[in-house]
Amino acid sequence: MMPTTRKADSVAHSQGDWQTARAKINLALHVTGLDKAGYHTLDSLVTFTEWGDRLRFAANDDLSLCVRGPFAAGIDRDDNSVLEAAQKLGALSGSLRGAAVFLEKNMPVASGIGGGSADAAAVLKGLCRLWDVEPDNYDLNALALELGADVPMCLAGRPARIGGIGEVIDPLAIPSFPMVLVNPRIPLSTPRVFEALGKRDNTAISMPDNPDGTQGWLTALTRMRNDLTAPAVNLVPEIGNCLDALEQTPSCRLARMSGSGATCFGIFDSADSAGEAARRFGRDHGDWWSIATRSVS
Ligand code: C5P
Repeated sequence: MMPTTRKADSVAHSQGDWQTARAKINLALHVTGLDKAGYHTLDSLVTFTEWGDRLRFAANDDLSLCVRGPFAAGIDRDDNSVLEAAQKLGALSGSLRGAAVFLEKNMPVASGIGGGSADAAAVLKGLCRLWDVEPDNYDLNALALELGADVPMCLAGRPARIGGIGEVIDPLAIPSFPMVLVNPRIPLSTPRVFEALGKRDNTAISMPDNPDGTQGWLTALTRMRNDLTAPAVNLVPEIGNCLDALEQTPSCRLARMSGSGATCFGIFDSADSAGEAARRFGRDHGDWWSIATRSVS
């Protein structure tokens, strides 16, 4: 069935609850090698924010997509993770029913916080419900991985340690942190960042047994890295300025880039200080995008 992007607003607005496709934050991302297919093996700690894109699904004859929101212009109307996920799920379940998908695109596109992956995962969950299909967990995870290395972890949607190329997911109890996300509004291609990486066989994460509360986690995270930071900063030096701005904020306890960038995150003392910092970045750096949120636990 050919997808359409004609007006599905009225249908999608009137039916179905909003689902949040949460931003994925790599608290640490160690690149440990290359697999046979040329993908990088990772050792990463991920969490998700309360904030993200929002999606709604409604019954419809065709598969249609309507995109709104601050970053709607960055979505390719004919080739995007939402339509691909819907088409692949339809093929897997043998059910070629349509759906009206409404996407509120709040996350910057190609920005290291898994926007396209989170949207694809939300589509898999939302359309399983709408179409009343219940694929085998193994098949659904395999389909998620086919859609992208970050889609399985977004489907799980909870804090975890990640291995393999992204498909090995070990749930982990990580506390909820007040956060600020900052992005210089410069999209960055993930393959370009991986290609620019100098050293591929880096050390794995050294994980303490039981980090104690927020302070224990901050101490542990401080000893970890994002190995993609150096190549990303080489490609987009403005990322370095975002990290500096976070680090120079007294209430910011840890500043790091997420994924392949360019979004950086800061873990803050409190929701108030995070909100204040996001407002200040908005005032002082009109060309940056920033938001205060908190991670889920
Ligand atoms: O799987 P996804 O489409 O999100 O990956 C985009 C690109 O990022 C891949 O084509 C690959 O170049 C790179 N990548 C990688 N190793 C990973 C994940 C992504 O090399 N574990």
